Amino acid sequence: MSGRAEVPVIAIDGPVGSGKGTIARRVAEALGWHLLDSGALYRLVALAAANRGVALDDVDQLVALAANLDARFGSDAAGNEQIWLEGEDATAAIRTEEAGAGASTVAVLQPVRDALFQLQRDFRQPPGLVADGRDMGTHVFTDATLKVFLTASAEERAKRRHKQLKDKGIDVSLAALSRDIEERDRRDSERSVAPLRPAEDARVLDSSGMSIEAVVATVLDWAG
Ligand code: C5P
Repeated sequence: MSGRAEVPVIAIDGPVGSGKGTIARRVAEALGWHLLDSGALYRLVALAAANRGVALDDVDQLVALAANLDARFGSDAAGNEQIWLEGEDATAAIRTEEAGAGASTVAVLQPVRDALFQLQRDFRQPPGLVADGRDMGTHVFTDATLKVFLTASAEERAKRRHKQLKDKGIDVSLAALSRDIEERDRRDSERSVAPLRPAEDARVLDSSGMSIEAVVATVLDWAG
């Protein structure tokens, strides 16, 4: 593993709408570290499958897509994330609820997870990495310097997600979103491979009622 293991990693795991994406981005910016949005990789696999007409239960084809994922991560002049899949701008397409549901469907397949494992570990580059997902602390970076399990009440998570989508011009009913979140939580927590749960050595942070700034400050404080 050469010197990789010495590169510090902050793992931030948690359920849908816990705010881990925003927090991970802010923490990475504050430290000047790299960012891994591992959920985006699962979303890209689902999107690539949709683009090519691959069924979400066709394990061999999904593994081939995951193993050869042609994805590029960057940001525009304003610092907003930009993601390309096979040279096409996929920034908006991967953030839909459909892509999220597709991601959580392909994410139950161990061979797909295995195909993405090394790709995720390759993001560990100096001076450090903030990795956001479901199994960063439990599987991908078990030796992370700091493991945070970020959560919030189900109601608050549905409201946050609703606002996030609305800001992007996507109109979904709060009730439908709550159902979707519950369903995705259930699938992510109950699956037999890499279920969503805090690592034994994770610090749990319930962000209900906390501002983004307060959550970021807590994580930075824990990071030392
Ligand atoms: O975090 P995000 O909502 O983008 O993740 C989409 C889906 O990808 C999750 O619901 C989960 O099923 C899956 N995922 C995963 N492991 C990760 C990140 C995401 O299984 N490390």
